[in-house]
Order: sequence, then C-alpha cells, then structure tokens
Amino acid sequence: MAVIQLRDITKSYGSFNALRGVNLTVREGEVTCVLGDNGAGKSTLIKILAGLHQPTSGELLIDDSPTTFTTPRDAIDAGIATVHQTLAIVDELSVWRNFFLGQELTGRFGRLREDEMKRICAEQLREMGIDIPDVDVDAGNLSGGQRQVVAIARAVYFGARVLILDEPTAALGVKQSGVVLRFVAAARDRGIAVVLVTHNPHHAYLVGDHFTILKLGRQELDAPRADVTLEELTHQMAGGGELEALSHELGRR
Ligand SMILES: Nc1ncnc2c1ncn2[C@@H]1O[C@H](COP(=O)(O)OP(=O)(O)OP(=O)(O)O)[C@@H](O)[C@H]1O
Ligand SMILES: [Mg+2]
Repeated sequence: MAVIQLRDITKSYGSFNALRGVNLTVREGEVTCVLGDNGAGKSTLIKILAGLHQPTSGELLIDDSPTTFTTPRDAIDAGIATVHQTLAIVDELSVWRNFFLGQELTGRFGRLREDEMKRICAEQLREMGIDIPDVDVDAGNLSGGQRQVVAIARAVYFGARVLILDEPTAALGVKQSGVVLRFVAAARDRGIAVVLVTHNPHHAYLVGDHFTILKLGRQELDAPRADVTLEELTHQMAGGGELEALSHELGRR
C-alpha cells in the first residue's frame, strides 16, 4: 500500500530550482532508494518528507489524502521517522538513554523507569539481531554502524510507519554497511516503508525494491527493481556517458 505519494513536486530556493517535478510513491514493506550525486536534491526531498521544508508546488499525499506538513511534528505524527546521519545519537549518553531520548518511560513523580528501559532496549536490539552486550555504555563507544542501528531500532520500536535514512552507510566500511543494510531489510520485513538515501548503487541494489535517481533536481530514473539492473544503476550513478567522455578526454581509451 502507498503511504506517501509525491506528485510533481518542485522546490526553489530563491531563483534556484533544487527539485523540478519529482514523482514518488513510497510503499509499506518496500525499500525505496533515492540516489544521486552531490547537490542532486536528495536532502531537499527528504526535508520535504520530514516536514522541515514545504514544496514550492506539487502535491503530497499521505494514505491517499492531500496533506501539508507545517512542522517536523506533523511528519512525526503521520508516522514518518527520519534518521539524520549526524544528529542521530548523543555520544555522552548511554545506549539505553539514547534509545528512549525524548520518550522516556517515567513512573510516579517523574521518576525514570531505568530497569525497564534497559531491558526493553536490550531486547529490541537483540530482536533485530544486533549484539551490544551492555546497553549502559556510552553511545560514543559504538561503531558507526551500531549507532545507525540504534537509531533505526528506536524508530521501529516507537512505531514508525515510514523510516527515512539519509546516507546511513556513507561513512562506513563494508562490514558496518552490511550491519546497517541488514537492519534496513529487517525493518522492511516488518512492513515498514523505508526510504534509503545513498550515493552507492551497490548498497541500494542489495536492499532496494524501487529506485529513483535525481540529477540537478530532475528525476533521471524511477523504476521498480524488475525494470532495472545493478549495471544500469551503476552506469547512471557513475555519470553514464559523462564518464566515458571524461575517459576519452583524459586519453585513457
Ligand atoms: N537552504 C538552501 N538555500 C539555498 N540553496 C540550497 C539550500 N539547500 C540546498 N540548496 C541547494 O540545493 C541543491 C540540492 O541540495 P541538496 O542538499 O538537496 O543535495 P543532495 O542531493 O542532498 O546533495 P549531497 O549528496 O551533497 O548531500 C544544492 O545545489 C544546494 O546548494
Ligand atoms: Mg544530502
């Protein structure tokens, strides 16, 4: 089922057109990959979905109803959780404090229900297949991949229907990227609609059900997995013909 539909979305910053007519359908139980080079408009698109920016024109539908997000709270209330790459985790707080950050379980007189939160946090991480032996350690001790995973597990636990990940594997090595992508697949298998933003066509193709490529705000490709191969995706992302021309120019051909 389609949770989010974007119809002919444009976004201008002053006279600069960052998005020029984007159409996208985000479905439950699918991973929708948004690919594109630097400055392509990926984060702009994500900010519109997260309620940080409003489109200049075009339509946003949630569950088939035309919707306007005025604030990030509106997007969160619609079940859309966004994991920003840098802001996801507070290093100086323990893993379990991070997990419940802003949504702490409290008892009488506002007392924190610490034991319960630790237990739930450990359970949730274990259930999604990540092994963090002690949820009491500072999150600063976690690897890049584990931090992403804690942020994803948190969004899933608090009932996100749509999970948006902006470049979750950008700073990670092969093994850690694998950890994150396994999590993306686990969230998808729970029926969550995942939007995965990445530069990396290999990462996208490992988990993607649908692919969109942006280039200078235009949609170069919008296709289900059945209609696109990894080779095509890689070719488009590598700049396709542009790279061949460059290779020719540099005399390597
Ligand atoms: N607030 C803003 N004001 C003016 N221009 C902006 C603003 N935000 C983004 N832009 C411009 O819009 C274009 C798209 O930016 P965006 O951040 O969406 O790209 P991106 O695809 O996320 O790139 P990257 O891969 O580098 O993160 C860029 O040319 C950028 O300079
Ligand atoms: Mg970006």
